[in-house]
Amino acid sequence: MTWPDRVTIVEVGPRDGFQVELEFIPTELKIDVVDAVARAGVSKIETSSFVSPRAVPQMADATEVFASIHRRPGTRYTALVPNLKGVELALGAGADGVRLVVTTTETYNRKNVGMTVDESFEVCRQILRRVEGESIAVEAVIALAFGCPFEGPVSEDRVAEMAHRFTDMGIDELSIADSVGLGNPTMISSTMTRLLSELPGIAFSMHLHDTRGLGLVNAVAAMRVGIDTFDASIGGLGGCPVFPNGAGNIATEDLANLCEEMGIDTGVDIAAIQAVSTRMQDFLDRKLPSRVLLAGTPGQLYAKIRKEAE
Ligand code: COA
Ligand code: ZN
Repeated sequence: MTWPDRVTIVEVGPRDGFQVELEFIPTELKIDVVDAVARAGVSKIETSSFVSPRAVPQMADATEVFASIHRRPGTRYTALVPNLKGVELALGAGADGVRLVVTTTETYNRKNVGMTVDESFEVCRQILRRVEGESIAVEAVIALAFGCPFEGPVSEDRVAEMAHRFTDMGIDELSIADSVGLGNPTMISSTMTRLLSELPGIAFSMHLHDTRGLGLVNAVAAMRVGIDTFDASIGGLGGCPVFPNGAGNIATEDLANLCEEMGIDTGVDIAAIQAVSTRMQDFLDRKLPSRVLLAGTPGQLYAKIRKEAE
């Protein structure tokens, strides 16, 4: 068993985190956060979503955000889209990629996007046709891959079947999402081992919510079987728009610190991420869940001890 040499962190706070905040986050602040996260070395940022402003008012300024971010070469700025209208807007805004979410269960998929699972797959097919010849990547997300708050456990067969459906239509980037935090390391390693062996050549990533405190151990379980790309959210921002007790994603600084402690490169400047999270914490006027934001990295702690001893 070996760990990955390098882990890629995908920042999803500006979308998955911001979308559940009730107070409107000023567009300028959203832009500053995206720019600061890019400067901190994060190479892929889910920057916003092109969705119905009635469904998610916080994302109503997606076009403005994309227009004013300062794009760093080599950084991929992506957006979540639920339908063709979202793709048109994403193309117009110059997004580098779009993410389309389909949920494993009918109940949740309908609550999220008002469509059946089959209808969402059909939308995905239409999106792929629409972007032919365009320089925009299409990634699919299998949401609620480890359990649904409405329908209960989700089988590994169901996740594998959906993964095959996506790859059969030409998708080669797949995010496996524990959207409300119902997965555990046993489930994660079993599912991801199976997907990696059945679908070699597909770029898998994981999206892990920390609802039961299992986010980082689930990430370690995934790394152990060969997954090297993870979504994370500054400060651990986020929740679930459909399930009230869902927690946010694993925190970007916590994941970056975990990797650093394990000798795995992420290219992410942890102090710079802590600074962005602190700014959001101040704006939202509440403590964010990240542990490393609260306690610092071991390196920061030891530096403080040394300084105090001088
Ligand atoms: N971007 C912006 N506006 C959009 C849009 C998009 N992608 N898709 C639809 N709209 C607008 C329509 O133009 C329409 O506006 P109008 O009433 O001013 O004419 C309105 O939204 C309703 O459109 P409709 O096609 O009837 O959609 P709906 O009300 O059935 O909602 C979705 C369906 C998919 C658009 C909506 O459920 C949605 O945006 N869901 C996203 C949820 C989400 O972001 N979840 C995040 C976790 S994955
Ligand atoms: Zn999420």
